[in-house]
Amino acid sequence: MTHRVPPPNASIANETEGSKKLFAPSAERNAHAICAALKTIAPEQGNALELASGTGQHIVTLAKAMPNIQWQPTEVDPDRIASIQAYIDESNCSNINNPLLLNAIQSSWSTKLYPMDLISLSNLLHLISISEAETLIAEAATALSQGGRLFLYGPFKRSGKLISQGDIEFDKGIRASAPDTGYKDDQWVISQVTQNGLALAQTIEMPANNLALVFQKEP
Ligand SMILES: C[S@@+](CC[C@H](N)C(=O)[O-])C[C@H]1O[C@@H](n2cnc3c(N)ncnc32)[C@H](O)[C@@H]1O
Repeated sequence: MTHRVPPPNASIANETEGSKKLFAPSAERNAHAICAALKTIAPEQGNALELASGTGQHIVTLAKAMPNIQWQPTEVDPDRIASIQAYIDESNCSNINNPLLLNAIQSSWSTKLYPMDLISLSNLLHLISISEAETLIAEAATALSQGGRLFLYGPFKRSGKLISQGDIEFDKGIRASAPDTGYKDDQWVISQVTQNGLALAQTIEMPANNLALVFQKEP
């Protein structure tokens, strides 16, 4: 299974002069809210995996805020891998591993990355299909250690409904580029993850109508 290239309106990452670093305005806007939410559910120490890391702006924020956790960024896009590496090099954080090229919708990546105490995914579920999301969720559940937590952040339908005009337009734009993608329903995601042996631990309302769903694997 190959990966999808997100539509331009869903993943803006601008080049920066004289550096491989890419800059995503949305990642800048939501980094601190995501970090604050993750801090409330992260273990004191352990290994954390970030799927679809994007530019690398998030991972350095997380690693600085949670220095006792060893962070593993991953991405499917080689230009973004280079950008993540540039952010890591600039950060001087010793608790971030070099980024791994990882297609999160491909089966069996979990065997290489098990056991993770925390897995974070931001802003990808709406850009993939239902069956791709099923694979991603199953792999993430398998990659978690006993008691490990899964953090899923992004825009979701709420009990089948798009909750604002902005969400209606964004979902429509995404589906215009790739009809089998689009916002996932929060209840569908909860049922998928729980079918994979995790329990819903928390639902966190996030700025700009986003949601963070937190799950825990049986200790
Ligand atoms: C909307 S961006 C979100 C980036 C970052 N997580 C954030 O919240 O700012 C979606 C990211 O997912 C990556 N991506 C798309 N398909 C992927 C896949 N199958 N596996 C891993 N990453 C993927 C894209 O390259 C892009 O960086």
